[in-house]
Amino acid sequence: MYRSHYCGILRATHINQEVQVAGWIQTVRAFGSITFIDLRDRSGIVQLYLDEAQTQQIATLNLGREFVIQAKGIVIERSNKTDKIPTGEIEIKVAELKVLNPAKTPPFTIEELSDGGEELRMKYRYLDLRRSPLQRNIQLRYQVNRAVRNYLDENGFLDIETPFLIGSTPEGARDFVVPSRMNPNEFYGLPQSPQTFKQLLMVAGYDRYFQIVKCFRDEDLRADRQPEFTQIDCEMSFVEQEDVLQMFEGLLKHLLKEIKDISYSEAFPRISWSESMRRFGNDKPDIRFGMELVHLKSPKGAIDLQDEAVDYLSGADFKVVDEAEAVIGIVVKGKAAYTRKEIDNITDWVKRPQIGMNGMMFIKYNEDGSIKSSIDKFYTPEQLAKFLALGDAAPGDIMLILSGANNRTIKAASELRLEMAKQLGLRNPAVYAPLWVIDFPLLEYAEQDEDGGGAGRWVARHHPFTAPKPDQISWLADRDKFPYLKANAYDLVLNGNELGGGSIRIFQKKLQQDMFRALGISDEEAKDKFGFLLNAFEYGAPPHGGIAFGMDRLCALLGGDEIIRDYIAFPKNNAGRDVMLNAPSSIAQKQLDELFLSLVKPTE
Ligand code: AMO
Repeated sequence: MYRSHYCGILRATHINQEVQVAGWIQTVRAFGSITFIDLRDRSGIVQLYLDEAQTQQIATLNLGREFVIQAKGIVIERSNKTDKIPTGEIEIKVAELKVLNPAKTPPFTIEELSDGGEELRMKYRYLDLRRSPLQRNIQLRYQVNRAVRNYLDENGFLDIETPFLIGSTPEGARDFVVPSRMNPNEFYGLPQSPQTFKQLLMVAGYDRYFQIVKCFRDEDLRADRQPEFTQIDCEMSFVEQEDVLQMFEGLLKHLLKEIKDISYSEAFPRISWSESMRRFGNDKPDIRFGMELVHLKSPKGAIDLQDEAVDYLSGADFKVVDEAEAVIGIVVKGKAAYTRKEIDNITDWVKRPQIGMNGMMFIKYNEDGSIKSSIDKFYTPEQLAKFLALGDAAPGDIMLILSGANNRTIKAASELRLEMAKQLGLRNPAVYAPLWVIDFPLLEYAEQDEDGGGAGRWVARHHPFTAPKPDQISWLADRDKFPYLKANAYDLVLNGNELGGGSIRIFQKKLQQDMFRALGISDEEAKDKFGFLLNAFEYGAPPHGGIAFGMDRLCALLGGDEIIRDYIAFPKNNAGRDVMLNAPSSIAQKQLDELFLSLVKPTE
């Protein structure tokens, strides 16, 4: 037997008990003739106390950081108690200590905060994983996994595995492909999601499917994206949108209760995609704070077909707003006292190429009720007061204003809103503000292909299996209506992150064919790529719908974070590399020959 107890669970109630522990040395501290060792395992840290005799005995062992040791002794009360660690009231008076395996000095400190850079820690991921923040994250991930399974199991979902070596899946990213040795010059595609399989399972009658499953997408990486990531993938038959929303709202509530002990009893807010765009400038709004967009000027059809033009600004002979398609303000509470320098800093921020604005205007509503503005040459105080009133500004507030082309200005205002909230500490990770965004557009116009080539074309905003709103089906034949077609599609959004997305699916062959045609996919190509699904729809497909959640994002958010890498045991870096394994890497000529592949040098 190596141990009787985990290190981190020992408490005052264990005093006078003989225990045996095993783990890694975090630190060795010699105090004159006695020694203290912090011993770590996955449960936490306990202090070992070695008296003079024991200290002499271990002198020749050259104990160092990360040695794996085993120690036997009596739990005693600590003289220098600490509340910094849960075992801080006790220590183990060591009677016997054995080295199970010595260790080289690690390349960085394995403590709460490490001194190692990102790349170095990725290279030695197994050492980084010993650190308590990662231990907490990975354990949290397991708890989330278990809670998800429990909830879905209680609701009659079946966990069914689907294959990885498949064809291409249309989720909008590039596929990772795998060459087939047995079928020369042919390739499998790795699934971007199990979308078509879960629909086939519905056709097969396996109503209520789920899978916690790896998905693969060859796309540009960000803090909330990995090339292989995990989805909680779900599908249900004989459901309408309302049934799906209820079921999965229940899942998130269950998780918030189980993992964070937060009881969220009210229904999650629901807003349409159009409303989200109008109020927050994006489709995954962070609703932990207000600062909603104030449309001082916007063009006809700005977001929806029926949107009327709005203009509170023209007629003042002010070129900047006269020439702008859209002018949007946000009201920052209590910041009328911003200095020139502070406003300049924000202006520089919106002028960065990523945001792309030419400048920023402001209206200050001073505490004493007076108004000061960068545009007071063009507008009377009464007019400026009206603009402030449109944003419900109160004395002490400032309105920051952007202008330019419609889509770009909406996007920039949304980014500015998030940035200001970040600067003002309004994005508190301990507050959870979920909502549903519903009625997404069915299609979107892609100016170019992902690689910058190709002409513009209409693509499915979610995926081509998503059902249009039933009363708009005839619009699929009218390209002028394409921008305004809405889908029975929904996203679950949490604190400004898209946690999950899904839709009610097309389940009739004819409608699916019409959809492919609208996307410019020829009947031949549709038959070639998705013939199996079109065929299946002829053999009794039930109405169905579902959703998939980003498991990594869910765990990060429940951990109060947004960087998903820290919630994945062995993630890739930002260049899609596993720096520990040095993957991807070249393969031997023999392997290439077996696969009938020859390589072309990339152009510089
Ligand atoms: P979608 O493409 O919206 O839908 O993906 C669902 C959820 O998966 C997460 N996600 C990612 N997480 C980490 N890294 C990535 N590269 C990544 N890409 C997506 C997001 C997202 O909300 N088959 C449909 C679902 C359905 O219709 O049922 C689908 O895959 O949290």
